[in-house]
Amino acid sequence: MGSKEASSCTIFCFLLLSFVGCKCLASVIEATQTATLKVDASPQLSRKIPETLFGIFFEEINHAGAGGIWAELVSNRGFEAGGPHTPSNIDPWSIIGDDSSIFVATDRTSCFSRNIVALRMEVLCNDCPAGGVGIYNPGFWGMNIEDGKTYNLVMYVKSPETTDLTVSLTSSDGLQNLASATITVSGSSNWTKLEQKFVAKGTNRTSRLQITTNKKGVVWFDQVSLMPADTYKGHGFRTELISMILELKPRFLRFPGGCFVEGGWLRNAFRWRESIGSWEERPGHFGDVWHYWTDDGLGYYEFLQLAEDLGAAPIWVFNNGISHNDEVDTAAIAPFVKDVLDSLEFARGSAESTWGSVRAAMGHPEPFPVKYVAIGNEDCGKKFYRGNYLKFYNAIREAYPDIQMISNCDGSSRPLDHPADLYDFHVYTDSKTLFSMRNTFDRTSRSGPKAFVSEYAVWRSDAGRGSLLASLAEAAFLTGLEKNSDIVQMASYAPLFVNDNDQTWNPDAIVFNSWQHYGTPSYWMQTLFRESSGAMIHPITISSSYSSSLAGSAITWQDSENSFLRVKVVNFGSDAVSLTISTSGLQATVNALGSTAMVMTSSNVMDENSFSNPNKIVPVKSELRNAAEQMQVTLAPHSFTSFDLALAQSKLVAEM
Ligand code: AHR
Repeated sequence: MGSKEASSCTIFCFLLLSFVGCKCLASVIEATQTATLKVDASPQLSRKIPETLFGIFFEEINHAGAGGIWAELVSNRGFEAGGPHTPSNIDPWSIIGDDSSIFVATDRTSCFSRNIVALRMEVLCNDCPAGGVGIYNPGFWGMNIEDGKTYNLVMYVKSPETTDLTVSLTSSDGLQNLASATITVSGSSNWTKLEQKFVAKGTNRTSRLQITTNKKGVVWFDQVSLMPADTYKGHGFRTELISMILELKPRFLRFPGGCFVEGGWLRNAFRWRESIGSWEERPGHFGDVWHYWTDDGLGYYEFLQLAEDLGAAPIWVFNNGISHNDEVDTAAIAPFVKDVLDSLEFARGSAESTWGSVRAAMGHPEPFPVKYVAIGNEDCGKKFYRGNYLKFYNAIREAYPDIQMISNCDGSSRPLDHPADLYDFHVYTDSKTLFSMRNTFDRTSRSGPKAFVSEYAVWRSDAGRGSLLASLAEAAFLTGLEKNSDIVQMASYAPLFVNDNDQTWNPDAIVFNSWQHYGTPSYWMQTLFRESSGAMIHPITISSSYSSSLAGSAITWQDSENSFLRVKVVNFGSDAVSLTISTSGLQATVNALGSTAMVMTSSNVMDENSFSNPNKIVPVKSELRNAAEQMQVTLAPHSFTSFDLALAQSKLVAEM
């Protein structure tokens, strides 16, 4: 999926006809407001935006990871989700047959000591139904099996007697066979690892994995995994969802939460140590804030790998001994501090170090460059936060002096009472408030730690399930962050992903199911900021009686060949605006050739994208044939426009 190109000359033409050369039948919007936007691009007034300004925050929420970007197709692959007490709930596994032909129950006989639960299947029939009896797993609301693609099955089995198992990928009712193999399990009292490749001979978006037999007897199963062979860089991530992230060119990856890090109770918080090593031996855990089980196939190592694959700086948010409902007293926090130091050694230690060697054994001898950590999430004000924070802060500072530490306490309006390199700032609010918050950091002290706006979004009624209105307010807010990027070092939207079958948090930037995905307007809005990180920012002034509905920014940036002055303007109001853009101080002339405009708008400000209409609101590109140092354009009501003025000489402000 990409932005629609200008050739279609549809919506865009009638909205911005005044500067677009193509002719359309649709009517021209009458501008009822006028405004002037002046850019002063003088080198002495320009400033470099931090390289890290815009990135992503990935949280295991809404099945963003399990049943999301992590490509594992089997849900509850180790039969642990029902808890350690057996017999347990094996959901979403189920049986093929009935209680006269098959009896399945969990027991504690696995060969993996850290996740001891396994499934015992007893086939009772001598004369089993045609097709056999057995078990099936529907994955996360159905498995997307695609014609011609390869899927790798791994499973652990044990059977006292030699038995043939039929393993198949089928439609959800079992009637359509997409791939099948007969696997012989040799009779033994030991567990055996079985591997099988499947090439699908059809497509079905809601398939299941089934394992059947006709032979009376007992078979145990554990750690049943089905992965598509084609994952991003072979590292286990769903390629098409990673492409959506890559479109944002994220400069950092904050992970793995959010509240997911805290847990409702500490016993259910994310534990990095339990999420590393071979996947078969990970115990998995129930995330009690967002209410679902994860096998932790997407663990600490995989997050670090993902950051590397995205070219993004990893930002490890760790639990600081505080959950939503319980806290560790500072007097007893030492083991938690040691645990975090171990996690940093795992990431950064040499391949010979205790924990670095575990990382190396997992396939990454080179350290992962963890330069930022957040000490907890949204815990400022909790009883033991400050005490615990200082214990972590001092220990990490001593062991890793270069690591930047992020406090949970907001330092935007008053100084922090503890040392920090950055402070976390979260905002979820209505569109008008966020639009006005573009000026929030104007008032922040220029000394002290910098801001990390790690979660921002418009929510509730203004947001629908991802409205244009929300994206306009967010775009305006981001122009304010660009302007204040001397003290705002990083920013990310939240949440990033939602599996449409489990929308715990609304809205989200990227919506998907087993086989489809789309970006909300808030996602597409962010793509127009991806060139800002590391670019030069210039002061602008907007003059108009309508200026309270307008927001904007100006940067110079360059791609591999050309340099551009980018002027972004949000029209938050319902009037069209005739806008004069004038630039001074540029070290190059503006060239109409190669200049473009990208516009996001729609006829109704509450419009959304959807699976059936994924591109209703996306940036629409066109040529900007009247581009010049001074030019006039028309801003559509409720629109976000990014004008890229091509600079004729390569003598960039940035190079001076
Ligand atoms: O982004 C969703 C949640 O909002 C995060 O888990 C938490 O940090 C915030 O409250």
